[in-house]
Amino acid sequence: SLSSIEQTSNSSFIKKLKSTGRSLVVFYGSQTGTAEEFAGRIAKEGARYKMKGMVADPEECDMADLVEMKEIQKSLAIFCIATYGGGDPTDNAMDFYEWLQNGDADLEGLNYAVFGLGNKTYEHYNEIAIYIDQRLEELGATRVHEIGLGDDDANIEDDFVSWKEKLWESVCSHYGIEETGEESNIRQYKLVDCSEVLPERIFSGEISRLKSYENQRFPFDVKNPYLSKIAVNRELHKSGDRSCMHIEFDIDGSKMRYDTGDHVAVYPKNSSELVDKIGELLNADLDAVFSLLNTDEESSKKHPFPCPCTYRTALTYYLDITSNPRTHIMKELIEYASDPKDQEKLKLMASSTPEGKKEFHEWILRDNRNIVHILEDLPSVKPDLDHLCELLPRLQCRYYSISSSPKVYPKSIHITAVLVNYTTPTNRVNKGVATNLLAQLIPTNDELPQPTIPIYIRRSQFRLPPKSQTPIIMIGPGTGLAPFRGFIQERDYARKEGREIGEMVLYFGCRKKDEDFIYENELQEYVANGTLTKLHLAFSRDQPEKKYVTHLLEQNADELWNIIGEKSGHLYVCGDARSMAKDVHSIIVKVVMEKGQMTNSQALNYVKKMEQQKRYSADVWS
Ligand code: FAD
Ligand code: 2AM
Repeated sequence: SLSSIEQTSNSSFIKKLKSTGRSLVVFYGSQTGTAEEFAGRIAKEGARYKMKGMVADPEECDMADLVEMKEIQKSLAIFCIATYGGGDPTDNAMDFYEWLQNGDADLEGLNYAVFGLGNKTYEHYNEIAIYIDQRLEELGATRVHEIGLGDDDANIEDDFVSWKEKLWESVCSHYGIEETGEESNIRQYKLVDCSEVLPERIFSGEISRLKSYENQRFPFDVKNPYLSKIAVNRELHKSGDRSCMHIEFDIDGSKMRYDTGDHVAVYPKNSSELVDKIGELLNADLDAVFSLLNTDEESSKKHPFPCPCTYRTALTYYLDITSNPRTHIMKELIEYASDPKDQEKLKLMASSTPEGKKEFHEWILRDNRNIVHILEDLPSVKPDLDHLCELLPRLQCRYYSISSSPKVYPKSIHITAVLVNYTTPTNRVNKGVATNLLAQLIPTNDELPQPTIPIYIRRSQFRLPPKSQTPIIMIGPGTGLAPFRGFIQERDYARKEGREIGEMVLYFGCRKKDEDFIYENELQEYVANGTLTKLHLAFSRDQPEKKYVTHLLEQNADELWNIIGEKSGHLYVCGDARSMAKDVHSIIVKVVMEKGQMTNSQALNYVKKMEQQKRYSADVWS
């Protein structure tokens, strides 16, 4: 967690539980904060069952203490665990995961339940949570309630709420307890007046360390991003009304290093238009300085975001005000509705009845309302701004596949990003937070201060083969081309240095040749100079029937098998996870079956092995 105050050094959660009379601990494996939020909601609800709870970050705890949980009467450990990307644990759950895998602790007497957060569009759906649930049982622990699997591609809030209800039923019957009915609408954080705080103590958008953007210190990472200048920002589309940006971040002098295939994370900020709107709707002074302090003094997380700061700073840099709020926010807003009609609507959406779920689904998700839209459309709802700031999730950084090679561009990081803008069913135009910000960051030739944005590099597993002679196939329609531009630059550089390079086959697809064929000239040059062996192009909308990279793959089964089967080459897929990456996977299985003369299950095994050997890699997002 990104606390601005030092974390307590005490890593024994058992001691903490005992000294504060608690019996419930909720661990989270969280990358974007959702699992952490869910953990907080469960810990809070424990009060209803006379189970005083606390949230804990496994990274800050000595997880071997789990063996001592049995010393606490009627104790329970809950795990809210996200599975990341290609089936990996989140960073903060990595050590715990390895401890479970490698250790053989005796966990008899430990009562537990697991909720997983995953996304069905990816392979390895909820794999980490499923593993943890099974492994805890293997080590002798008692499963109090069966695992819940949340699907972020559908409605994870719904999955969570449904699971949570059943969880408490199981807890009651397991421990022989009854609901006390004490619904604790107590707040986790209390508002602290900060009118006396000196200006130099006030956060103004820093992620962790005060004034970190004024005096930048290496190394740069998630808590300490580098404030990068934008060196280049140009349009890649040749025509049409959509936009795709080629952006170069200037990292000269930063000592930052990246590898081909890495991701760069960008810290965005919300548009001042939306922030002002919230101030207006709530009739609040956005420039007032405030701090939210955890009422649980034992918690290692003192503030939900860097405090003190102004409301404007919190709403601009720290809080997510554009995604669809979850049901607990509806619930907390009820008390602020003065019109009974608004109150009823919020109550309905907060309830877990079928009608309530339907209303939430239609009014929030389908109609795509964010907090600003909700406050506009339920005009009697006027929450205290500090309470709203407590409830909103943290604004997340956005990731981009780096589209350059450090061999060629050691002093800059390139990205290829599509501008996100769309109209919602209530006729509002929603603007993607990061991409609309990036679109405004245009460098000038003047002496004026140049635009900057905080970034850091996140290592990825998406790597060229160790040997430059290994042949590769790259499948990257649309912005899926991004990392392959880096791959091609890297090998072009090697070839010009006199090294032998293997075949490079690229499948690229877009709508129209004259519209969104990005980097066309560069690609044609690589074909002409021999770095790119083959460039297969699919323009989906240049003829009456759709033409996709997947159609071309099906036609080129011999070439595919020659490279992946006969020459043990590598295959890479990048771009849309939803349909393209899945379609590619099934085509490859089919090709392996036909050309490798295997049964379906042999072919599936073959492809699985390719994945394990890193000969089949995907860099996909949805
Ligand atoms: P946001 O404010 O986050 O809005 C996007 C959200 O709006 C979507 O998640 C969706 O919920 C919603 N939405 C979008 N369009 C619609 C619609 N038509 N109807 C309804 N809802 C909609 N992006 C790139 O452009 N290039 C890359 O190279 C790239 N690489 C990535 C690599 C990784 C590992 C990951 C995880 C993502 C990558 N992305 C890439 C996506 C990128 O991180 C951002 O998600 C994207 O740029 C949008 O960010 P934003 O803040 O502008 O939009
Ligand atoms: P479309 O938008 O015309 O349907 C980059 O987004 C390109 O990928 C576009 O030409 C898009 O076509 C195409 N595309 C969409 N779905 C795809 C899929 N399942 N497989 C391959 N390409 C796809």
